[in-house]
Amino acid sequence: MHKDIDFNQIDLNSQPPAAEPARQYYFIAKLRQHVKEESERIGRPLTANVTTFGCQMNARDSEKLAGVLECAGYLPAETEEADLVLYNTCTVRDNANQRVYGRLGHLNSIKKKNPLMKIALCGCMMQEESVIEKIKKSYRFVDLIFGTHNIFKFAELLCTMFESGRTVIDIWKDTSQIVEDLPVDRKYPFKSGINIMFGCNNFCSYCIVPYVRGRERSRNPEDILKEVKSLAADGVVEIMLLGQNVNSYGKNLVPPVSFAELLQRVEEIDGIERIRFMTSHPKDLSEELIQVMKHSKKICRHLHLPLQSGSTRILQAMNRRYTKEQYLALAEKIRKEIPDISITTDIIVGFPGETMEDIEETIDVVKKVQYDNAFTFIYSKRTGTPAASMPNQVPQEIIKQGFDQLLETVQEIAKKRAALLQGKVLPALAEERNVQDNTLITGRLSNNMIVHFPGSPALLGKIINVRLKECHGFYYLGEIDHA
Ligand code: SAH
Ligand code: SF4
Ligand code: F3S
Repeated sequence: MHKDIDFNQIDLNSQPPAAEPARQYYFIAKLRQHVKEESERIGRPLTANVTTFGCQMNARDSEKLAGVLECAGYLPAETEEADLVLYNTCTVRDNANQRVYGRLGHLNSIKKKNPLMKIALCGCMMQEESVIEKIKKSYRFVDLIFGTHNIFKFAELLCTMFESGRTVIDIWKDTSQIVEDLPVDRKYPFKSGINIMFGCNNFCSYCIVPYVRGRERSRNPEDILKEVKSLAADGVVEIMLLGQNVNSYGKNLVPPVSFAELLQRVEEIDGIERIRFMTSHPKDLSEELIQVMKHSKKICRHLHLPLQSGSTRILQAMNRRYTKEQYLALAEKIRKEIPDISITTDIIVGFPGETMEDIEETIDVVKKVQYDNAFTFIYSKRTGTPAASMPNQVPQEIIKQGFDQLLETVQEIAKKRAALLQGKVLPALAEERNVQDNTLITGRLSNNMIVHFPGSPALLGKIINVRLKECHGFYYLGEIDHA
């Protein structure tokens, strides 16, 4: 593992090794030299800021990028007033892209004041040709651009950028490679995401992820278990297994391994007390998984099960490969087998051809499933996806009316579900000091509900029994239960 690497021992006069991850260790060592010389020259340490947009998978990638920067000798910077700023971007909806463009304008004004400053962009947005064209034309102050498939080459690309003194752009169309054992700088000492697979093969017709993240590839279970063990040894008590569709994990491995089997093996690892995962596609959720969750002591009582739409006609056009009835039957089975589980979902309003009747079908599912929470999104047209060229893009007034009605139902039900926990004593992982009131600790229940309670920062990272006293809709105020 990288922790055992002594970067000072790497001979920079030799050629860089061809094999990974040794090659990146070589470039990290080279970067260290550069960072050291530069900071000696200017008389202060160099700083770097990594800003993440998008999902948990991007957040995990950012921890790896920050890990490289830390090994190279950069001090982490909280703000974008830094010597290196890296944006790890998302393109799932257009507003994610707009936020990046907006902030880039601001970065340019910071750069004008700091001639040393370098600006780098990576992540999903960079896999789109039109984005690269736009940046080349209108954001010429960007120094480095790379994509999702060559993220493991970050150290090497930075070296090329410094050595060449020009803008470096390197985007790959796809990859079958998985590079293990690169440095990671975790945001929390006690919890961590961990990739179990990359890419997506589902091609839901509205979604750009398969185009920017490439084909589905699962990591070997041995590599995953090794990483979980090393995280546990490092003090991690909660892990979140990450993939666009964890339920299809391992299908293409030789020999194949099911996601439920992987969970059982992770459960055996001492020190890990909580296991979460994201995301489950309803079409691939197996009976085996339900049984493993039901009997597990560590798998959290939370399932994120994206619905997208409750109308079978729209689901078909979305290429989701389940019907309203199949989804309802699945949710019912899960609620019956695991009664204390919390089910959350994602819903899109305004998919091409959607009518008020379709949205009413969605609202019907929300009422029947009784979601503990739902993320509702307005459909965003993504160039290159099949839905982008479908006729009947939905008029704004239908979207607005449908979205408002849906949101009202979602919130009403979520509040009712939350209130059911009133007075209970449940274990919470103490995650953060409350920002508004620092006498409070913010904890998370197994079912993902947030509870704030008086406590000292010494509790952070511990799982504590908390009495849920006052329900505030989406969170609780509570107190430590000493019984
Ligand atoms: N792999 C996950 C979702 C990844 S994207 C899954 O299949 O559930 C996260 C969410 O963004 C999706 O669940 C969907 O609700 C939403 N989303 C994806 N593409 C979208 C688009 N074009 N417009 C609006 N929302 C979208
Ligand atoms: Fe997108 Fe569908 Fe893949 Fe999720 S399963 S990432 S929504 S294509
Ligand atoms: Fe966004 Fe890429 Fe995740 S598009 S949602 S960051 S996989």
